[in-house]
Amino acid sequence: MKIISIANFKGGTGKTVTACNLAAILAREGKRVLLIDADAQHNSSDFFGADPEGCTLTDVLEGTGEPTAADNVQETNLDNLDILAADMGLLRLDLAAIVNQSTAALKRFDDFLDALREGGEYDVIVIDCPPSFTAASVAALVNSDEVLMPTRSDAFSRTGVLEIREQLENVGLRLLRPLPRIRVLVTMAHSKATLPKQATAMYAEAGFEVCRTVIRSGEVVSQSTWQRKPLYVVAPGTNVARDYETLANELFDSENFRLNEQIELYLSKAISSERAAVNLGISRTTFLRRVDAYKASKKRPRGRPRKNDLNRADEISRGV
Ligand SMILES: Nc1ncnc2c1ncn2[C@@H]1O[C@H](COP(=O)(O)OP(=O)(O)OP(=O)(O)O)[C@@H](O)[C@H]1O
Ligand SMILES: [Mg+2]
Repeated sequence: MKIISIANFKGGTGKTVTACNLAAILAREGKRVLLIDADAQHNSSDFFGADPEGCTLTDVLEGTGEPTAADNVQETNLDNLDILAADMGLLRLDLAAIVNQSTAALKRFDDFLDALREGGEYDVIVIDCPPSFTAASVAALVNSDEVLMPTRSDAFSRTGVLEIREQLENVGLRLLRPLPRIRVLVTMAHSKATLPKQATAMYAEAGFEVCRTVIRSGEVVSQSTWQRKPLYVVAPGTNVARDYETLANELFDSENFRLNEQIELYLSKAISSERAAVNLGISRTTFLRRVDAYKASKKRPRGRPRKNDLNRADEISRGV
C-alpha cells in the first residue's frame, strides 16, 4: 500500500485537482485507491460527492468514527475509488492539538493506516493536503512514502515548497520517521516553454527531484470542477487531461513510462532507434520489438480496461 500526499504550503497550486485526477486515473487503471481529503475546505470530498453527514477524517482523528477502519470510508461513483471525506471539524482538531500539545490524532491516524494495511483493501492512498501545517496534514505527511508538491512556475510558489521540506525534516526527525521521497510538479503552465523550464531548473538547483511531466493550464479544469468529473471524462485528449495521464505513468509505472517515452520520441523521428536503445540499455532489436508491441497495443479498442486486459497490455509492452 503506497501512500502519496499532495502538498504545498502555498494555496491554489493545483493540489486538489492533482489529487482528484491522479486518484481517478489510478482507479480506472485497476488500482484500488483511497483518496483522503485532509483539507477542512473539503474540495475533493465535494468533487466526488461524499456525504457530508457520513464519517470523515475528523471522526478518525478524534476517535469518534467507526471501530473498523474500512467502515469510515465512503464509496465514490467510480469503480475502485473510495474516499475518506473532510469537514470543517478538522479546524477544531488543530486548536485541540495546539492547546493540549497532543499527538493523539497522529496516533489514531497511524492506527487507521495500519488497519488498512492489514486489511489489504487498497493499493494506493492519495491524500489531498491543505495549504498549511495542520494536525491532519502532519499526520498525512509523516505517514507518506511520497510527497508530491504541485507548484506554479512563478517565484511566489517557491516559498511553500522550500518551507514544507524544512518542516518535514523537523517533524520527521522529531517523530523519528524517515523522510518521504519528495517530488515537485510544475502545474498550470501556459506552455512547456521558458517558464516551466526555468522553474524546473530552479527546483533542481535547490536539490529537489522534479517531475518530468509538466501540467499545462486549461479551461477544461474549471469545467471539470463544476461537473465533478475527472478530466479524462470531461475533456479526454486535451493537453491538461493528457498531462495527468503522463503524470500517473511517471509516478506509478516508471519503467513503462521510460520505454513509452523513448518509443514516442523514436516514432516522432526525434531520435534514432540506436539512440533509444542506448538510452534504455537494451539492444536495438529488442527495442524495435517493443515498438511493434507498442503500436499493436495502441490499436486495441479503447474503453475502461479490465484487469486481464491490463495484464495483457503490460505483457505486450514487455514484448511477451
Ligand atoms: N492545470 C490547470 N489549468 C487551469 N486551472 C487550474 C489547473 N489546475 C488547477 N486549476 C484551477 O486553479 C484553482 C486552484 O486549484 P486547486 O483547488 O486544485 O488548488 P489547491 O492547491 O488545492 O488550492 P488550496 O491550497 O486552496 O487547497 C482552481 O480554481 C482550479 O480549477
Ligand atoms: Mg485544495
